[in-house]
Amino acid sequence: MTMIVTGGAGFIGANFIYYMRENHPQERVVCVDKLTYAGNLSTLRPILEDPAASETFRFLRADICDRAAMQALFEEEKPDCVVNFAAESHVDRSIEDPEIFLKTNILGTAVLMDMCRQYGNIRFHQVSTDEVYGDLPLDRPDLFFTEETPIHTSSPYSTSKASADLLVMAYYRTYGLPVTISRCSNNYGPYQFPEKLIPLMIANALENKPLPVYGEGINVRDWLYVGDHCRAIDLVLRGGRIGEVYNIGGHNEMRNIDIVRLICRELGKPESLITYVTDRKGHDQRYAIDPAKIHRELGWLPETRFADGIVRTIRWYLDNRSWWEEIVSGEYREYYRRHYGE
Ligand code: NAD
Ligand code: TYD
Repeated sequence: MTMIVTGGAGFIGANFIYYMRENHPQERVVCVDKLTYAGNLSTLRPILEDPAASETFRFLRADICDRAAMQALFEEEKPDCVVNFAAESHVDRSIEDPEIFLKTNILGTAVLMDMCRQYGNIRFHQVSTDEVYGDLPLDRPDLFFTEETPIHTSSPYSTSKASADLLVMAYYRTYGLPVTISRCSNNYGPYQFPEKLIPLMIANALENKPLPVYGEGINVRDWLYVGDHCRAIDLVLRGGRIGEVYNIGGHNEMRNIDIVRLICRELGKPESLITYVTDRKGHDQRYAIDPAKIHRELGWLPETRFADGIVRTIRWYLDNRSWWEEIVSGEYREYYRRHYGE
């Protein structure tokens, strides 16, 4: 079997590639990635430098919006399935400049699905997000997102992801393309780009820099260890019902401020580093996934408790300083200055 994994040089895609190599080592993975600021080939270095991997792994630098490049790739590889992780993924950047989000997240998904249609109705899985459901109020802890919750987006990022989801369902209904969609809550773990909450706070704390918390820090996210997300996608890919959406989440809701305090504690850093900054525009209050469907139909349950996963993640950033120090330079420095000021 040959699987195209797009966005495999990013956080979740790379973790998924490592998951595949461990759990389905006989299957060939072709990673397609544009290597934007968020893509890092160094993440895949151990596979790229392993001569024994050349049969079962290929990396192609390409843009999923580039129809000619995708056509050549599908022609050459004749893949059995496509898992689409490639996306612009940061809400704050989407607020600053939405256009590239529309291009990559919507048009890129359409190009990939056109290729799937053209080359024999290839199985397509879209990696989506709980953010397509909008947010829940802080004072209604009884409410959760189910697969039936209406799409109701807030940011240009979540709107672009929701648009892609609608398009995926349109290709299913109109052309009979064999698709599935998974909508996961916030992930954390190794190889996450330091612009996102958890790695940003770890990296800043290690350098004794201010820890910028938006608003009052009371917004709630539902955190899942990235390995549990990868296993869920694999299950949906192999056993999920075609044309269905599966929510993924581990019932692990936390306020941002509590996460930042926990990171300070684990690293032995003072909470005086915490700096409250101007709130994000349109900031979603609470995300909370009801994962009953994937549990009932595919037997999925999260395996990593947050208390263990966060310690493992902090340890990973401590042990892999060179990985993120290389990244926390150039374009990211400029973004950081623009977004947070000096
Ligand atoms: P990321 O930003 O770390 O990685 C995205 C990858 O896509 C990068 O390697 C980048 O180079 C690549 N890419 C961007 N534009 C491309 C293009 N036009 N062509 C080819 N490659 C391109 O993102 P992530 O956090 O790993 O998220 C992966 C997917 O999972 C996204 O679709 C995101 O919406 C979804 N998701 C993320 C989370 C989360 O908490 N991070 C939660 C739920 C869903
Ligand atoms: P983020 O990691 O950007 O994920 P998302 O917005 O997709 O959930 O942010 C997680 C939460 O942390 C969100 O409520 C915004 C907040 N946050 C901060 O308070 N400070 C920061 O510097 C960042 C990047 C995020």
